[in-house]
Amino acid sequence: MKKTLVIVAHPSVNQKSIANKIIVERISTIEQVKIKDLYKEYPSFKFDLEVEQNDLINAESIIFQFPFYWYSVPGILKEWLDQVFTYGFAYGSTGDKLKGKQFLVSTTVGGPAESYKEGGYNNFTINELLKPLQQTANLSGMKYNPPIISHNMIYIPDVYNKKEEVEQRAREHAEELVTYIGGI
Ligand SMILES: Cc1cc2nc3c(=O)[nH]c(=O)nc-3n(C[C@H](O)[C@H](O)[C@H](O)COP(=O)(O)O)c2cc1C
Repeated sequence: MKKTLVIVAHPSVNQKSIANKIIVERISTIEQVKIKDLYKEYPSFKFDLEVEQNDLINAESIIFQFPFYWYSVPGILKEWLDQVFTYGFAYGSTGDKLKGKQFLVSTTVGGPAESYKEGGYNNFTINELLKPLQQTANLSGMKYNPPIISHNMIYIPDVYNKKEEVEQRAREHAEELVTYIGGI
């Protein structure tokens, strides 16, 4: 099993979250996994570049764990990328620090799978919407693994989904992630 760094981007993973909370709690039991809760560690979005880059260098496998927000990553994760994936670190002629590492997107999506296609109300597939992350991995030399995605993960009482069903899907998502981490 590879040393794995999980970047968690959820504004309230310990309290308001249902899905990401279950997923993060499950994988935090794995010895080789280091979890970094961005909103908790950096509420002001000012990242410690040295700490962040060293944690990435020390990891053999990097996972982004987040709820899908506005067809993308939550704002803090984009800001983290903007600050941490610098020239000479993640890209450029000497920017090879992430080269060869495994990379995985693990995301919970509110909308149903059938809405994420041409002609559906979300028009595009999740894989299409994730292309900026795929290309970020490409440019920095990381291996982009097929994302782990679960749908129907939003819970609004009496409107969207049943809580127990969202929890069950989150547990299944977590097991898929555990299998990935164990096999990489
Ligand atoms: C600010 C915000 C933006 C969201 N944008 C999307 C979206 O673009 N597409 C979608 O399917 N669900 C969207 N959702 C639903 C979340 O993906 C869903 O609530 C989340 O994955 C559930 O995980 P949690 O229980 O850990 O919070 C959004 C939710 C919020 C709060």
